[in-house]
Amino acid sequence: MNFDEIEEQDGIRFSWNAWPSSRTEATKAVVPIACLYTPLKEREDFLESPIWYEPVTCKAPCRAILNPYCQIDVRGKLWICPFCLQRNALPPHYKDISNTNLPAELLPKYTTIEYNLNRVAQIPPIFLFVVDTCLEEEDLKALKESLIVSLSLLPEYAWVGLITFGTMTQVHELGFADCPKSFVFRGTKEYAAKQIQEMLGLTNNPARPAAGQQPNRPGQPPQMTMAANRFLLPVKDCEFVLTSILENLQRDPWPVAADRRPERCTGVAMSVAVGLLETTFPNTGARMMLFCGGAPSEGPGAVVGNELRDPIRSHHDIEKESAKYYKKATKFYEALAKRASVNGHTIDIFAGCLDQIGLLEMRSMVNNTGGFMILADSFNTAIFKQSFQRVFQKDSQGHLQMGFNATMDVQTTRELKVCGLIGHAVSANKKSTFVGETEIGIGNTSAWKMCSLNHETTNAVYFEVVNQPSAPFQPGSRGLIQFVTHYQHSSGQFRLRVTTVARNFAEGQSPEIANSFDQETSAVLMSRIAVFKGEIDDGPDVLRWLDRMLIRLCQRFADYRKDDPHSFRLSENFSIYPQFMFHLRRSQFLQVFNNSPDETAFYRHTLNRENVDSSLIMIQPTLTSYCFDADPQPVLLDSISIKPDAILLLDTFFHILIFHGSTIAEWRNAGYQDQPGYENFKQLLEAPVLDAQELLTERFPVPRYIVCDQGGSQARFLLSKLNPSTTHTSGSPYSAPGGAVVLTDDVSLQVFMEHLKKLAVAGAS
Ligand SMILES: *[C@@H]1O[C@H](CO)[C@@H](O)[C@H](O)[C@H]1NC(C)=O
Ligand SMILES: *[C@@H]1O[C@H](CO)[C@@H](O)[C@H](O)[C@H]1NC(C)=O
Ligand SMILES: *[C@@H]1O[C@H](CO)[C@@H](O)[C@H](O)[C@H]1NC(C)=O
Ligand SMILES: *[C@@H]1O[C@H](CO)[C@@H](O)[C@H](O)[C@H]1NC(C)=O
Ligand SMILES: [Zn+2]
Repeated sequence: MNFDEIEEQDGIRFSWNAWPSSRTEATKAVVPIACLYTPLKEREDFLESPIWYEPVTCKAPCRAILNPYCQIDVRGKLWICPFCLQRNALPPHYKDISNTNLPAELLPKYTTIEYNLNRVAQIPPIFLFVVDTCLEEEDLKALKESLIVSLSLLPEYAWVGLITFGTMTQVHELGFADCPKSFVFRGTKEYAAKQIQEMLGLTNNPARPAAGQQPNRPGQPPQMTMAANRFLLPVKDCEFVLTSILENLQRDPWPVAADRRPERCTGVAMSVAVGLLETTFPNTGARMMLFCGGAPSEGPGAVVGNELRDPIRSHHDIEKESAKYYKKATKFYEALAKRASVNGHTIDIFAGCLDQIGLLEMRSMVNNTGGFMILADSFNTAIFKQSFQRVFQKDSQGHLQMGFNATMDVQTTRELKVCGLIGHAVSANKKSTFVGETEIGIGNTSAWKMCSLNHETTNAVYFEVVNQPSAPFQPGSRGLIQFVTHYQHSSGQFRLRVTTVARNFAEGQSPEIANSFDQETSAVLMSRIAVFKGEIDDGPDVLRWLDRMLIRLCQRFADYRKDDPHSFRLSENFSIYPQFMFHLRRSQFLQVFNNSPDETAFYRHTLNRENVDSSLIMIQPTLTSYCFDADPQPVLLDSISIKPDAILLLDTFFHILIFHGSTIAEWRNAGYQDQPGYENFKQLLEAPVLDAQELLTERFPVPRYIVCDQGGSQARFLLSKLNPSTTHTSGSPYSAPGGAVVLTDDVSLQVFMEHLKKLAVAGAS
């Protein structure tokens, strides 16, 4: 199978597909053995013929799950666990097993399998809206409409609740249609969890089904003897009341002086939301959806002062440590993030604001809990409205594409250990024998908790080889890794997704290892490490680390004569890796000063949840050229690709941009496309628009759409992404005549490659 087929079947791609057989050899390979894994990757066959039994597991403490790599003794009714090598008896109901009659989990096509467990959640998923009311009239109206529509997108058995905030925070009761009541919290006060419970009347009253009741099926919630269902109810029971509360929702009435910001107590609102859910529904699937129209400016969690003349912090303020609110606010939201993640509760942030809203300070609430982060200029934009609707996408069976309260366990054969995970998760603190010494990302554990995930959520998991070189290499030996993800499906069903992968070990010098290199996956895995480091270390340190790793990789795997840069050759399997690193170095993920801190937080967050293909678009955007008399074709992300008579389509994942060359723009302005005899010009103008539409309808979050002309001000989006091969300063012999000049003094790819070759061939000894 090739990489694509493996990704289709298992939702996984590795940096190396043959593994170095000892620790020393693995270190020399520079890029760690690691994978990008999408635990809930869509598989239509799981929906069409679901598996309705429990998995067969190995004896304690191993507990590995029966899989196609196990040796089966059909006569003795035994199986041998490849992880611990113990023999296990097959369960009695497997007595008819034979080589031609195997259960699904032993068939090669089920290296990934999903079990529907014999359990259903007591409570279907819960959605708690936390809504900012310090908004412009028009914006609030648009947000209210979106929220009301979302009620019809939720399954009717899902539970919902509403908190609104401005100067104060209000928790709305949903029980009474006639006289809507709410509980009010002051915006300036820091409330302890216990105080919140007492004020809401929730003490000693956790949500439990009445005694003696059977676990319910979703859609048939049990009779609850609980105070909580004043605030949270199934959609079908409260849709009318909630819709009417939303319809009547007013802007925050507190007057705002012209030189002031509205007093917005986002921190208190979120602590009330977290407090409400953690008392009433601990350890069950729930999401708090925060809709924010500006920065918190009051009480705990404020990220900016009240006076407009004090601007919100920039990257420079944070670097100089002069951002007054930054550390305290970050700590405040981190504490909330921790409480939410412990309980399996997700936090999403939807920002509808031209300015920053403090996403940077709040990011831990989203990244610890697997939430969505959407940045829009207002709630009255397609970016917000459509992205929000896409959150409620359904699978072909009509279920929301969302998993809740998940735990992912990793188990390895003894040659390997796990170093850590980079993604939207927190450690589940499982200090098993599979935990390695080296820490990469969230380490010191072999299990992670993901409060929410969907069919796109992709984690990076890093491993190390622990075999000593003295251990003799056994030809044909292979290592195994098993990923076990337990989660609450949106239907209420508990499911277990199991992926087992095996790869051969190879001796250090053998070409097998180099030939197994997946440069695309490796580039993405390294960029996640770089971004993770970027959250902790200084920018320049991260760039130096990336450069060192790239030079060492080239020293190890390129062909060259010492001190002769002209002799430097990379084989096809490595050929575009340096280019990915070049673009990564220049990207918004590592060059943060061209963006606001909120934008940086958003870009990095998105990178940490996407698969290889989407991440590569973010690192190295794609550029397509449309000309007369030729099919659209991919062109170099380089200023030489700009031609007066071509239209370019740029996809950066976050932006979709159409760029008209100067001649095309002139003709269009002259209206040629509407004249008879110029149909082909009309078609040329339309082709990139149609392709852009297709990208816009598929992508989440919905990208920003820009149409511009050569020389226009919006064109800077394109220019900033292009390789400056024709800058004034580079004077590179590669600069082709006719390309547009990019005004920048950063080095071009050609100069970068020259440096790389020189350093790689010089360092060799
Ligand atoms: C949620 O996950 C935790 C582990 O993180 C688990 O202990 C708990 O049982 C799960 N909740 C349900 C309802 O299964
Ligand atoms: C999540 O956010 C925190 C900030 O509170 C940051 O330190 C951490 O690196 C982020 N995690 C990831 C995986 O980006
Ligand atoms: C992980 O464990 C090591 C050794 O036990 C310790 O030094 C390190 O601080 C731990 N890291 C974290 C993040 O807890
Ligand atoms: C790497 O090179 C080998 C040998 O040329 C080839 O068989 C293999 O398919 C290549 N792998 C990739 C990812 O291109
Ligand atoms: Zn075992």
